Amino acid sequence: MKYIKKILTIEKVKVRDIAKKFDTPTYCYSYNQLKKNINDFKKNFESFSPLICFAIKSNTNVNLIREIKKFGLGADVVSIGELMMALKAGINPKKIVFSGVGKTSKEIAYAIDKKILLINAESKSEIKEIDRIAKNKKKKVQIGIRLNPNTDANTLSQISTGKKENKFGVNEKTFLELVNYCTGSKNISLKCLSVHIGSQILDHKPYEKMLNVIDKIIVKTKHNFEFIDLGGGMGISYGDNNKKLSYTKYNIAIKKFLKKTLYKNNF
Ligand SMILES: Cc1ncc(COP(=O)(O)O)c(C=O)c1O
Repeated sequence: MKYIKKILTIEKVKVRDIAKKFDTPTYCYSYNQLKKNINDFKKNFESFSPLICFAIKSNTNVNLIREIKKFGLGADVVSIGELMMALKAGINPKKIVFSGVGKTSKEIAYAIDKKILLINAESKSEIKEIDRIAKNKKKKVQIGIRLNPNTDANTLSQISTGKKENKFGVNEKTFLELVNYCTGSKNISLKCLSVHIGSQILDHKPYEKMLNVIDKIIVKTKHNFEFIDLGGGMGISYGDNNKKLSYTKYNIAIKKFLKKTLYKNNF
């Protein structure tokens, strides 16, 4: 949004004209900005072709998700409602990951029926429940385990998700126990280590720390994880003086991690 000759505009359209046509309140999104942000992101990380999952919690507008889908993005959902919205927008279930603490049995059963890519479990009791439901349905379910890496994202404490006092994920000891539990289950296929340290992150260093933590843990598990789900929302600049996260530095850290971890584990 910017003022052109003192008139507020969004993509050169006068905001007052939008208000006249659609009444207020009306939400406006800049398609060009969306396209630019997605393409910038893709370009910076294209060397290892990640599946980029849009956090549906940040915007559940089905029309917007439909546009995001057209760029090939998947979805990160944390409730059955968000999962339904992602499916309604046409996102391929094989590009959907279901994270979040406190999933109900109904939500787990629905996710299994929809054959989504991963259910990222956050506790021992959740894994046992997935195992029980999968067994009843005579299915083998792909899951991830969310690790709490005890890493400070250096953002506001209210939006931190990766420190030991935060409710998300399991600690290293439980993680290692759960890997054993999963490999012993006929109804669970452990595919992913997932991690998320917070939102609005503007410095690449917390990501580096997080990658070092997971590298050490992966080696201890001796498990071949097909996916590493890296989370922690990349911060956006709200003003001219604000810092901007360096995608380049984060990309270098991920590449180093992949090289080191893949080499050590002979993947
Ligand atoms: C698993 C997961 N995904 C996404 C988010 C949304 O945050 P962001 O988009 O900033 O990563 C959170 C926030 O708690 C989360 O825990």
